[in-house]
Amino acid sequence: MPLKRGVRSIRDNLEGERETRQATFRRVFLRPSRYGRRLRKTIPMSADSRRGFTTAILHGDRSAPIEHGALHKPLHLSVAYGYRDANELAAVFQGRASGYAYGRQGNPTSAALEAKLTAMERGVGTVTFATGMAAIGAIMIALLRRGDHVVASQFVFGNTSSLLLTLEAHGQDVTFVDATDAAQVEAAITPATRLVFVETIANPRVQVADLVRIGEICRARGIVYVVDNTMTSPWLFQPLRVGASLVVNALTKYIGGHGNALGGAVTDTGLFDWTRYPNIYDSYKSQPPKNWCLQQLRKKGLRDWGATLAPEQAHHIAVGAETLALRMERICANAMGLARFLASHAAVRAVHYPGLDSHAQHLLAQELFGGRFGGLLSFELVDGVDPMAFLNRLRVVVLSSNLGDNRTLAIPVAQTIFYEMGPQRRRAMGIAESLIRISVGIEDHDDLVADFSHALAGGGRG
Ligand SMILES: Cc1ncc(COP(=O)(O)O)c(C=O)c1O
Repeated sequence: MPLKRGVRSIRDNLEGERETRQATFRRVFLRPSRYGRRLRKTIPMSADSRRGFTTAILHGDRSAPIEHGALHKPLHLSVAYGYRDANELAAVFQGRASGYAYGRQGNPTSAALEAKLTAMERGVGTVTFATGMAAIGAIMIALLRRGDHVVASQFVFGNTSSLLLTLEAHGQDVTFVDATDAAQVEAAITPATRLVFVETIANPRVQVADLVRIGEICRARGIVYVVDNTMTSPWLFQPLRVGASLVVNALTKYIGGHGNALGGAVTDTGLFDWTRYPNIYDSYKSQPPKNWCLQQLRKKGLRDWGATLAPEQAHHIAVGAETLALRMERICANAMGLARFLASHAAVRAVHYPGLDSHAQHLLAQELFGGRFGGLLSFELVDGVDPMAFLNRLRVVVLSSNLGDNRTLAIPVAQTIFYEMGPQRRRAMGIAESLIRISVGIEDHDDLVADFSHALAGGGRG
């Protein structure tokens, strides 16, 4: 049953709306199943129009009047804005009137993208940033204070892990746990714990966090639950369904999809009661509580830190997002086929992909993601097969550090993106020294299998 957005305008008691949202969440999403909870596969993006995911993205811009009837939201490059009079200027700056104060805090092009992302994640609002890391950094900067404690998955993306370690140098405590085991998350929580941070499918070892149970723990303990949805994207999974408070998306990856724009976003799902959060500044409490965190993120995390999404990039990402569902369907099918091929190959020791029966969280992933498992897989070669020589033999696949591109990309993990952290920390994160990460693209499947087959057989490059 979709959330009832249509009645919102006639119920201006916003506190009531938040309670309704939480009650709907409990009624719709929390039903018993094999994993303790049953989850709906997808939530309609637009409850009012009953439009599907892609239809709503394609036509979202035109729900409000758009200049000259343009089909895309126009690109607004202006950094500054003029006002009718000084009263309007003051009102915009004070948040009493809608409008734009200065390009660093947002502009109409990024606002249009934010509206789409909010709809895709079924949230109450979104703030965009220059990169995925800027979005994660903004959460930490805006919401944490000295002495606060964070519980984080030990399997998070390397730069996120590095950022969390930096927090420790600045007076916060971080405990890394195996987030595939919710009991470890619960055991790590202290009275100072302000937020729990996990990824849906971890990069690069593709562990799947126990998202449902961690959500229940956070809800019971009143802790902010941050879910990085980059690997799944809102097409495969909406973290609202497991009770996430804030959803991170690195827009650089699947949502943009073409490897031509960096971007990041934080969406507030509306499930967390920000009146219970001790670190909200009084100046952001003039608006209804559902906006408190978004306000603080936009002011402290974006305005003051300045990692603003450029309008040109916002436009690229919005256009890319139009084909998210089509690309993800093809990517998931290609990845499944490639994972099966690699798993059956004599030169491959282990394949990590949530779609394989051998994956430790396969059944959980099946239930969470509805039988599709994303585009990331990693694998290890048998002793005696040199991973670097193997990579050099690939002809279609590109050796590259990005992921979520239309093109299939490969990278040796320990030698590159996880190099800086050293062998001990890599071991703790389950990263074998020979691990190769593949971000599967939308090429014709047979071409991918032929490329891997050739490279595994030891043929010469080119
Ligand atoms: C799960 C995850 N989150 C965040 C990021 C950071 O995104 P960006 O490169 O846009 O900063 C990445 C990058 O690979 C990622 O894999």
